[in-house]
Amino acid sequence: MRLSVVGCGYLGAVHAAAMAELGHDVVGIDVDARKVAQLSRGEAPFFEPGLQELLLAGLRSGRLRFSADPAALSSADLHFIAVGTPQLSGGAGADLSYVDAAFAQVLAHGKDGDIVVGKSTVPVGTVERLSGTIGRDAPRVTLAWNPEFLREGHAVADSLTPDRLVFGVAGGSRDDAAAAALAQVYEKPLRDGTPLIVTDWATAELVKVAANAFLATKISFINAMAEIAEATGADVTQLADAIGHDARIGRRFLNAGVGFGGGCLPKDIRAFQARAVELGLAETVVFLDEMDKINLRRRSRVVELAGELLGSGPAGRRVAVLGLAFKPDSDDVRDSPALEVACALRAAGAEVVAADPHAAANARARDPELVTVDSADEALVGAELVILLTEWREFTELDPERTAALVSGRRIIDGRNVLDPEAWIGAGWQYRGLGRR
Ligand code: UGA
Repeated sequence: MRLSVVGCGYLGAVHAAAMAELGHDVVGIDVDARKVAQLSRGEAPFFEPGLQELLLAGLRSGRLRFSADPAALSSADLHFIAVGTPQLSGGAGADLSYVDAAFAQVLAHGKDGDIVVGKSTVPVGTVERLSGTIGRDAPRVTLAWNPEFLREGHAVADSLTPDRLVFGVAGGSRDDAAAAALAQVYEKPLRDGTPLIVTDWATAELVKVAANAFLATKISFINAMAEIAEATGADVTQLADAIGHDARIGRRFLNAGVGFGGGCLPKDIRAFQARAVELGLAETVVFLDEMDKINLRRRSRVVELAGELLGSGPAGRRVAVLGLAFKPDSDDVRDSPALEVACALRAAGAEVVAADPHAAANARARDPELVTVDSADEALVGAELVILLTEWREFTELDPERTAALVSGRRIIDGRNVLDPEAWIGAGWQYRGLGRR
C-alpha cells in the first residue's frame, strides 16, 4: 500500500520504518528539514534500540523515504497522523495545534477516496471535531483513529508485533472503508494473531488515554504504598512481589521508586483531567490528580533523603547522579524524574555530577549548567552521596566494593529499588531505597 506518515518524532519515525518493513511504500513527512535529512541518511534522530537497522533496511529496500515537503504525501492513499500532542504551556490540556496542522496538510494535498488515520494521543471528541472541519472544497476522505501503544526503548518490537490493534472508525462498523484499509495495512500482524478491536472514534481515543491513566495509577498506587512502608518499617518491594502473585493484580508496573515521567504518562493524565472538566465530569477522574501528586512527591522525597543522608544538607556537597533519562534504553528527558532531582539538588547548592549513557546531551540542552560526565566512574570519584535514578544496566550492576573505592562517602539512594541492599550495606554503605526497609 502507498502510505504517508505525517510527523517523524518518536512515534512517526518508528511507525514509518515499521510500515516499510511490513512491505508498504512509505513517505515520512516532517517540518524539520534537519530531521528529514538525518532520517534520509538512515540515522535515527533519537536513541531507540533497533531503529537504525530498521531505517536502513527500509531505505535500502526503496520502500521508505522522507520529505520536508507536505506535497510529497500526495503520492500516498492512506495517511497516518503521528505528530505530538504536548501539554499546553500554561495549561493542563493537550496542545492539538500540531494535529490540526497535520490534518489540514493532508486535506490540502490528499485526494478523493484517501483515508486519514490518526495515531497521536488525543482527547476524546477530537476526531469528531476534525471531521467537522472538513470544508466543502476539501477532498472526500475517510477518517479513522488507530491509537499507538508503543513504549520507548521497545518501540520497534511494539510496532512490528503489537499486543493489540484498535481501529476507531465512523459508526464502529467493520464494513467501514477505513477498517478494511487498516486491516490490509496490518495484514501481517493480524495474520500472526494480534487481537483486533474495531470500534467507534470516541472509544478508540479513550482506549489510549485510559491505558496510560491505568498504568500511571498502578505506579502511583505502589508509590503510595511506599510512603506507607516508609512510615511503618514495611518493605514495598516484598509487598509488590506478594500482591503481584495474584494474577488479577499482576507484578508488572508495580515497581516503586522515583516515579513515572516521559513524554506520555504525565501529560496524558493531565490532559484527561482537563477534558473531563470540559465534559462536566471533573469528579470522575479526580483520582488522577492524586496520582500525579503522589508521583511528584517521590521526586521531592529523594531530595529530602539526600539531605538526611548528608546530615547538614546538600549545599556544597558532591553528589553523583546516575541516570538522567526518564527510563533506561531511552535518551528522552521530557518530565524525567531523574533530571528533576538532579536540578533540584543543584538548586539547593549541591555539586552535582551526572552520568547517563545516552541522555546527557538532551539533559544539558534543558539545563546547560548541569555537569555531566561520560561514565559512572567519573561521576563517582569523590562523591559524598550516590543517587541511582535511571536503571540502566551499567548502574544496576555496579559493584559495592569497587564503587566504595571511588567515592569519598559511602552513602547511596537507590531511586529505582534495583540494588541488593544487603550487598551494599555489607560493603559498609548507608543504603536508602524508596519504601524499602
Ligand atoms: C507509555 C506506555 O507504557 C505506552 O504503552 C504508550 O504507548 C506510551 O506511554 C505513549 O503514550 O506513547 P513510555 O512513556 O515509553 O510508554 O514509558 P513506560 O514504559 O510506560 O514508563 C513510564 C514511566 O513509568 C517511566 O518513567 C518508568 O521509569 C516509570 N515506571 C514504570 C515506574 O516508575 N514503575 C514501573 O513499575 C513501571
